[in-house]
Amino acid sequence: MEQKPAGGRIQAIRGTRDILPPESSKWLWLEQKCRDVLSRFGYSEIRTPIFEYTELFNKGTGETTEIVQKQMYTFLDRGGRSITLRPEGTPSVARALIEHGLLRRSKVTKLYYFGPMFRHDRPQAGRYRQFDQLGAELIGAAGPEADAESVHLHVALLRALGLREFAVKVNSVGCPDCRPAYSSLIRDTLRDKASELCEDCTERLEKNPLRILDCKVESCRRIAASVPLISGSLCSDCREHYEGLKVLLKSIEVEFEEDPGLVRGLDYYTKAAFEIHHGRLGAQSALGGGGRYDNLIALYGGEPTPAVGFAAGLDRILLAVEEEGVKIPLDVGVDAYVVAISDAARAKCFSIASWLRQDLRVEVDLARRSLQSQMKAAGAAGARFAVIVGEDEMKSGVLTVRDMTSGGQEKVPEVDVSGYLKRLLGK
Ligand code: HAM
Repeated sequence: MEQKPAGGRIQAIRGTRDILPPESSKWLWLEQKCRDVLSRFGYSEIRTPIFEYTELFNKGTGETTEIVQKQMYTFLDRGGRSITLRPEGTPSVARALIEHGLLRRSKVTKLYYFGPMFRHDRPQAGRYRQFDQLGAELIGAAGPEADAESVHLHVALLRALGLREFAVKVNSVGCPDCRPAYSSLIRDTLRDKASELCEDCTERLEKNPLRILDCKVESCRRIAASVPLISGSLCSDCREHYEGLKVLLKSIEVEFEEDPGLVRGLDYYTKAAFEIHHGRLGAQSALGGGGRYDNLIALYGGEPTPAVGFAAGLDRILLAVEEEGVKIPLDVGVDAYVVAISDAARAKCFSIASWLRQDLRVEVDLARRSLQSQMKAAGAAGARFAVIVGEDEMKSGVLTVRDMTSGGQEKVPEVDVSGYLKRLLGK
């Protein structure tokens, strides 16, 4: 049982983080870059609530998954209903599509979302209890073109962020027609070795044998190596779809490797599944993952509708950006700092700053600091210019503008200051 810190200071909950400036600017940069790519691929944004009835995830994400069994933040609300903080976004999107009749409106719908997800797992580097995902769901297309576009979108997002050292892994996890036979094959192959499996895999052997294939425990990995590959058990529909995906990915020069052990940790997948891993992130190397989920919408009572999508972990993507040394153009400095030479000029500085802010990023001293401290503050704020105001300036209506980089000064009539600064800043 984890302990709350005894008395005194209240701290952030383990596995959650505060994102402070200037780190927060990196998130803004990341989000803007991603939105740009998403719009080029024809996606529109959907915003769904961060909590849903628990039933939604039990049914969709799946009763046998670790997420549902061990990781959900579930509680009773004041009305006694079981509510869960979303551990992922796909079930909410499927629910919303049905609830708002979006499936009827057009054949193919492309939706993306950004937002926090919640999973109660053991925190470690790259694994948090609250983390942010970008999800992209493509609904209404059954052919491998949709899967290929989805993989391509994920790759395009990473490339747009300047990442290079990632690897795309693909597999087919079969469908309800062919997977049961493969599950039986796994059970038959491993039955004699059941006693050597870890506790989780012993349970998986009955409930969800495919998950044994991606168990991280060394002894399970050794045992799993004796299981025949799923490719030999796929039905012709799944095989054709998977082959089609591979041909399409090659045609658009998206490099990938086939990974027969890639089974994904959620129950709704059918046919193709994929993950993107980064070589420098250690144990939590998956930047994102997804696949096809042709039965989820019908499972929720909607018109049977094919769908494919993925979610990328934004916290991990930023770690990868750091690891690869991508330069993020942080635009955090202010354009100008209005500096008062004397107390008498403070009110004037306050009003100059207010109107300059119609077009420019401007700071003014609010702490009644000395002239020297104000100049220091201007430097610390990354100001390109200092607009200096004293008795003389107030009398003459001509202000002193100092270029903080060169140290050069100009006298500029008050009415022209905004235009003067904009011209020099190229705005
Ligand atoms: P997922 O593989 O569970 O898929 O999560 C996608 C990504 O979220 C992971 O690859 C990882 O980058 C990030 N992630 C997951 N858990 C954590 C954590 N505890 N801390 C930090 N990052 C994490 C899904 O969520 C599916 N909804 C994807 C999908 C969409 N499939 C179809 N459509």
